Formats: sequence, C-alpha cells, structure tokens
Amino acid sequence: MSDFQLEILKKLDELDEIKSTLAIFPQHGSQDVLSALNSLKAHNKLEFSKIDTVTYDLTKEGAQILNEGSYEIKLVKLIQELGQLQIKDVMSKLGPQVGKVGQARAFKNGWIAKNASNELELSAKLQNTDLNDLADETQSILAQIKDNSHLDSIDPKILNDLKKRKLIVQGKITDFHVTKGSEFSTDLTKLETDLTSDMVSTNAYKNLKFKPYNFNSQGVQISSGALHPLNKVREEFRQIFFSMGFTEMPSNQYVETGFWNFDALYVPQQHPARDLQDTFYIKDPLTADLPDDKTYLGNIKAVHEQGRFGSIGYRYNWKPEECQKLVLRTHSTAISARMLHDLAKDPKPTRLFSIDRVFRNEAVDATHLAEFHQVEGVLADYNITLGDLIKFMEEFFERMGVTGLRFKPTYNPYTEPSMEIFSWHEGLQKWVEIGNSGMFRPEMLESMGLPKDLRVLGWGLSLERPTMIKYKVQNIRELLGHKVSLDFIETNPAARLDEDLYE
Ligand code: PHE
Repeated sequence: MSDFQLEILKKLDELDEIKSTLAIFPQHGSQDVLSALNSLKAHNKLEFSKIDTVTYDLTKEGAQILNEGSYEIKLVKLIQELGQLQIKDVMSKLGPQVGKVGQARAFKNGWIAKNASNELELSAKLQNTDLNDLADETQSILAQIKDNSHLDSIDPKILNDLKKRKLIVQGKITDFHVTKGSEFSTDLTKLETDLTSDMVSTNAYKNLKFKPYNFNSQGVQISSGALHPLNKVREEFRQIFFSMGFTEMPSNQYVETGFWNFDALYVPQQHPARDLQDTFYIKDPLTADLPDDKTYLGNIKAVHEQGRFGSIGYRYNWKPEECQKLVLRTHSTAISARMLHDLAKDPKPTRLFSIDRVFRNEAVDATHLAEFHQVEGVLADYNITLGDLIKFMEEFFERMGVTGLRFKPTYNPYTEPSMEIFSWHEGLQKWVEIGNSGMFRPEMLESMGLPKDLRVLGWGLSLERPTMIKYKVQNIRELLGHKVSLDFIETNPAARLDEDLYE
C-alpha cells in the first residue's frame, strides 16, 4: 500500500467521510487521487463518487478589464470628459478593440446617444450621474468569476458571451467524495488472486482474503488469427454428426499396426494397397505387438487363410509378422476397426465418427498430398440392410445441402456390398464421386466377436475436397503446407457450407 493510500484511510478513519479530496489533499492531482481510490475500492476499503465542477479563469484581457474597468465605462468617461465625440474618433482615441466593444455595449446599456451632428454624447439618463457610481456589470461579473463565488447565479448567456469575447476560459476540476467501504480498516492485507492447491491442502485459504472477480473487464483484445478453412469445414461436419447422435472416436494416433490398418479389415497381405509405393512404413521401431485377444487373432488368421463365418478366405499363408509392421494409417477405418473390436465386449447400436489425418504415399500434384483428412462414419444396429445405408447416406448428405445422390457398386476388401456415392455437379455438368461406403463384412465383424445380427455400415470422404470447392481453391497446396498465402483467409470469404459444398 502506498503512503498516500494509507493517508486516505487514516483521514477516513478520523473524519468518517471525506467530502472533498480536493480540500483535504490539495497537493495531489486528480489522477493520483483516482488511482489510489480505485485500488482501495478493489479491496472494499472505501466507496467513492466523482464530482466534476466547471471552473472559469480570467484571460489576460479579462484580468485587465477587472483592474481598469470595462470598455463601455472607459468610453462614457471619455465622452463626459470631452462633452461629445465624433463616431469616427472613437477608434482612434480608444483603439479598435476597446472602441468597438465599448461603443456597442454603451449603446446597449442606454448610456450614450447620437446627436444630430452624428456625435456621441451621454444619454439623458446619465446627464446628472456621477460616473464613478455607475455599475460596471462586466467588471463585477469578472470579479465574481475570479473569486469563484456563486457562479450558478450568473446567467449562462452572460458566461457564454464572456467566453466568446475571450475574457474567460472554461476548465474543469475533479473532486471525489469518499465514504467507508464494507471492509474498511486502516491496514491493507494483500488480496489473493488465485486459489492454489497449496492453499487448499494447508487450509490456508480459510484465513486468506480473495480479490473479487472483475466481470466487467474487457480483457485483452485479440485482433489477429483465424481458423484454418479445413478446421472450419471440419467443425461443420462435426456438428452434423453430433446432430445425428454420433460420438467422436479418438483419432490422435497416426501410427497404426498393419493389423488394424489392414488385416482386421480383411485386406489380404499381398494387396497392392500394402505396397511400399502406397503406404508409409515406420523404420524405428520396426514392429509392434499384436492384440492380446487370441481368439480374435485366430479368427483373423482363419478368415484370411481358409475362411470362416461363411467365407472361403483368400487361401494364402497369413503371416503375423506382416500385422506387426507399423504404418502411418492410410485410412481412418483403422480407428473404426479398433472401436468395433471394443464394441464386441458390449454389443449395442452405436454411431461413431472421426475426422482426422491419414497418409498415403502418393505423387503430390494439384489435388493430391501425401496426407489428407478423412471424414469417417460408422453406424451399428440390429438387422439393418443396404436400404438403411442408402437412406442414411441421403439424410447425411442432405444436411450438407447435397441431394439427389446416386450409388454405384464398388469393391472394398472390408465391405460388401460397397457403394461409391455420386452427386450431380452443376458447374461441371457431370456426376462426381463424393464418398465411399459399404456394409462391413461378416468376416471382419464376427471375427471380433460381434453378434451376427448387429450389422455395421460405414462410409468415408475426404475433408479437403468439399473445403476446396467451398473456398474455390484449385490447387491443394494453396490450402495446406508452406505455400499457403497469408492473405488466403481474407481473399476467400467463406460461403455457407450447405449452399455450395459440391457445386
Ligand atoms: N476407408 C474407405 C476409404 O478410405 C472409406 C470407407 C469407410 C468405406 C468405411 C467403407 C466403409 O475410402
């Protein structure tokens, strides 16, 4: 606490209230007083209100009139002395300033008149008056202003007139009225701003005083930064999923085993997708453990080799070592597979989604990067069919403003049937593929221990594609990577997702 703050508290203790800080602490400027009062108020030591008073000071000319009398008095005295005065001589005798104002005001007061020969003389009213007894209103008001007495009794019009004539200037003094606060005392304990775990564990918090929250604080204004377009579109997808009862899968594990990325999904070990040209393998560490679930592993070996759960398998020698290789996940269906295996512990209708990065060893060009984002959905329910998948896809894409879908049969190792989803592109005047989908195979689901009648449908699409269309980006490198321009966001005002997602 500063000395001045202590001084204020002591005065307050002595007087019970400080009616005018200006009177009590004349040596302190109003800014000093205000900041001392503010910090004491934050501790509830006192309350205060601000009193602004308008003040007037005489200018040099104002002070001169106060000393020597007004110009109108000067003029009438001169006329009395001379008997009369030619109008043209007024300026030369008194000076232009004094002459002009003096003459106007003397006329206004009815002190002077013009005679037939155009000379000024004293009006009848002043003929027998001792001019020393004449009330000099201008002078007396200036005196009153100088003494700062009863300023409210002065007609505001007169004050305005004096301001205009530059005889006075307006100022302001700030005063404060101070009373005791709810926690008034003449000492100041420092208020705590944070509750720490120490204070809680030692019980120290019980005897501490905490600073009240300032809910009116404006905070620091952050005027820079923007969300990346991919994050914006991702957020819109998330909201669509949430609105349809989906839960988000944890998607922060970029490195997967070959097992979850491929084998669990019934992708045979000689499938071209597993080639080095398509998939990034991790060198260090080279391998990982297989899942603990021995029954599951046995089932996977069986479905790959000779078949099980109604299939005849691929008829090759399945090698666990291939499963142990580590890869950068090539699709988010690897996450879905792990989640479905978890679901087998307690099978029930479930809706899951993820939107995150996947990696493919692709030649980078205008529309391909070696990494991109996948939007992935999984829906498990009893006895659902391909009809449910079609209906669900229509609903899902309708929420993005995309209607009139067409479906084309396709092949995925892990789904059967599988369908590519197409939508009509007005701009290109053709059908474009917007997603891939299917019913997960019994070989995959029943291997995990999921009941036969709990069917699972899934689909995936890229996040980049709708984002590029929405933000009218031709080259993906304008959207991701070191070539992205700082002005990108500014020059690409977001159109609404549901209006032109697949234009
Ligand atoms: N994994 C597929 C892809 O990468 C998408 C998909 C997910 C298809 C789930 C069917 C079921 O394109």
